[in-house]
Amino acid sequence: MKTIIITVFIGLFIFSSCSITTNGMTEEDKFIEDLLARMNLQEKIGQLNQHTSQWEMTGPAPNAKNTQDLLEDIKNGRVGSMLNVVGAEATLNAQKIAVENSRLGIPLIFGYDVIHGQKTMFPIPLAEAASWNPDLAVLSSSIAAKEAAANGLHWTFAPMVDVGRDARWGRVMEGAGEDAYLTTAFSLARVQGFQGDDLSNENTIAACAKHFAGYAFSESGRDYNVVEIGGESLHNVVLPPFKALAESGVATFMNAFNTIDGMPATASSYLQRDLLKGEWGYDGFVVSDWNSIGEIMIHGAAADLKECAFRAITAGSDMDMEATAYIKYLEELVMEGKVDVKLIDDAVRRILRIKYRLGLFEDPYKYSNIDREKANIYTGEHKSASRKVARESMVLLKNEGNLLPITSSVKSIAVIGPLADDNDSPLGNWRAQAIPNSAVSMLSGIKAAADGIKINYAEGCKLATAGRAFPTHLTINNTDKSGFSAAVNAAKKSELVLLAIGEDAFMSGEGRSQTDITLRGLQQELFDAIYKVNKNIVVVLMNGRPLVIPEIAEKAPAILEAWHGGTEAGHAIADVVFGKYNPSGKLPMTFPLNVGQIPIYYNYKNTGRPDTGNPEDNLWSSYTDAPNTPLYPFGFGLSYTTFEYSDIKVSSSEISKGETLQVSVNVSNTGTVDGEEVVQLYICDKAATYARPLKELKGFQKVSIKAGGTENITFKLSDKELGYYFPNGKYVLEPGGFRVYVGGSSEVKHSVNFSLK
Ligand code: BGC
Repeated sequence: MKTIIITVFIGLFIFSSCSITTNGMTEEDKFIEDLLARMNLQEKIGQLNQHTSQWEMTGPAPNAKNTQDLLEDIKNGRVGSMLNVVGAEATLNAQKIAVENSRLGIPLIFGYDVIHGQKTMFPIPLAEAASWNPDLAVLSSSIAAKEAAANGLHWTFAPMVDVGRDARWGRVMEGAGEDAYLTTAFSLARVQGFQGDDLSNENTIAACAKHFAGYAFSESGRDYNVVEIGGESLHNVVLPPFKALAESGVATFMNAFNTIDGMPATASSYLQRDLLKGEWGYDGFVVSDWNSIGEIMIHGAAADLKECAFRAITAGSDMDMEATAYIKYLEELVMEGKVDVKLIDDAVRRILRIKYRLGLFEDPYKYSNIDREKANIYTGEHKSASRKVARESMVLLKNEGNLLPITSSVKSIAVIGPLADDNDSPLGNWRAQAIPNSAVSMLSGIKAAADGIKINYAEGCKLATAGRAFPTHLTINNTDKSGFSAAVNAAKKSELVLLAIGEDAFMSGEGRSQTDITLRGLQQELFDAIYKVNKNIVVVLMNGRPLVIPEIAEKAPAILEAWHGGTEAGHAIADVVFGKYNPSGKLPMTFPLNVGQIPIYYNYKNTGRPDTGNPEDNLWSSYTDAPNTPLYPFGFGLSYTTFEYSDIKVSSSEISKGETLQVSVNVSNTGTVDGEEVVQLYICDKAATYARPLKELKGFQKVSIKAGGTENITFKLSDKELGYYFPNGKYVLEPGGFRVYVGGSSEVKHSVNFSLK
């Protein structure tokens, strides 16, 4: 059986609003124009204004309103959207005020950060991308949408489609990793899951492509820092997923906090007007990030909040999240003739369009349904979907001597580590409405599955000592080793150790940049102490970013990357370690050997003096104290079986523009158990006007192959995969020689050549 990944690329989101009226306008346009004609300037500006509720802040809130003032603003048509109002009842109450008490009764649109689940948590997005199975992202996002919609929500601020190459940046957990092609596939899948094919369906919600653009390139991995990127990387690495989403109908975009080559993204006309709304023909709306309009001034690119409003609206930011710049100053700017009302009309049209497509004008209350809220959230079906996604997201990094899967001869297992019985961290950061401490811990999962096996549990050490609820800074435990002896004893009396280490849920995510991504606190020491008494250690990593773990990688015979795996994480881990599920994940992001290698990514360029691999050759592009190669490369992951690639062929050694090349390969399962392999295709454009990466992912298929079986896998390459962008944004297809690789990781060596005429 073959999972063809390409399905998600097909145009997905055809809205049902295209019926044409007698005067040639669509019903949708006619409705919007009629309404717009009845709106006064204040009401128009009100539509561009988004406020948070009082009870859940996702950023600093200097402009937060007290509830009474907020209600008055809604009545006066001065609020078009709210974020962080959650629940059928709360949204119903707020919506009633907008619909029944404001002059035109325009419904509010309620947004929320539904990043990897609403109440049923799925693995964090980075983990899900490790499954290389976008169908799972369709599944998880559609369930998240169903639960969020049942909670009265219309709109999620997801997916984050920022391609990230710097594991110090805590927000890599929210994306699909370091590659534009993989990120595009997962982002399209997520949007399909959230939006379905009919936005007005009561179980779907509007999605949001964020953060436009460049945010993951924040200098030195420090959140909110400046971004200096250059046109070549901007167009080939950062923008492709955004473009794909714009073209496939994602309802909204969010701009970004960062400056990009000096220009605040929120004030960038190039990004928002020229590219997004111009070249890409986007008809949805752009919401600012939290106070990012106000931060234009803090960047030093506006003198005051009024100038911020001017710059943002001129540049094409349609909705103001939390800066109150538009509500305070847009009217004045229009009256002074500085802002053309046409700009405001354009923004209002875009917002009304999405409200229309959500069906809010037909029935503003349809999402706020208390019965559906009771029935549709945190169901058994949703939890089992979460378990399925979690186990397929895990990556087996090492398995010396086939320590995994645990065989039936093993009669005692030590379950150790600060994360072993942690039922909160698997929920991850950005956990929406998840109940704290509601995940299945690894210990519970193992106990539930370990029939007749003696489980010896010991925590070993605590990871952090601060509270869990959105702590700003965790206090890492660097001193308290009082749990070590119990852990060592548990290891001594067991045949095998499962050691859960890594990161707490809140060590990654927004505002969680780190200069040090090695194992924090006493975890390495704990490993060393256990290793002295029992070498049969399976390290189970739980984390929201790649970690630097060279010593673990060297000594531990087995390592399973389990990430922050969501509500059912413990059961999913048990499925994998006991062999009920054969791991099939591959890394969506490179694991560096040390922090100094960052940024490190697979699709690097050759340089004029490529590394020779010989430490004596010091006038080449290499380090004198470490190799260039990572600990684990992008696309890498093991299975309980083995796969061999043979007979890689191209349909022709030369093709012309407009033609399609077929690339085929035989993949054999050479082990004794059935397994799934992620077959990856990379190309190298050998001589182009601009230097191109040595390898670029241009296709992948996840295939299931029976033990002893062979599958012939075919890919198609066309102009879409073979061209690239010049730094000025022009797409070019240049004739010349190409190399194509097919294999099981980015370190694949098998290749064939062809040329483009
Ligand atoms: C984040 C966004 C998020 C917004 C609303 C910001 O701090 O950057 O990604 O959607 O807050 O919570």
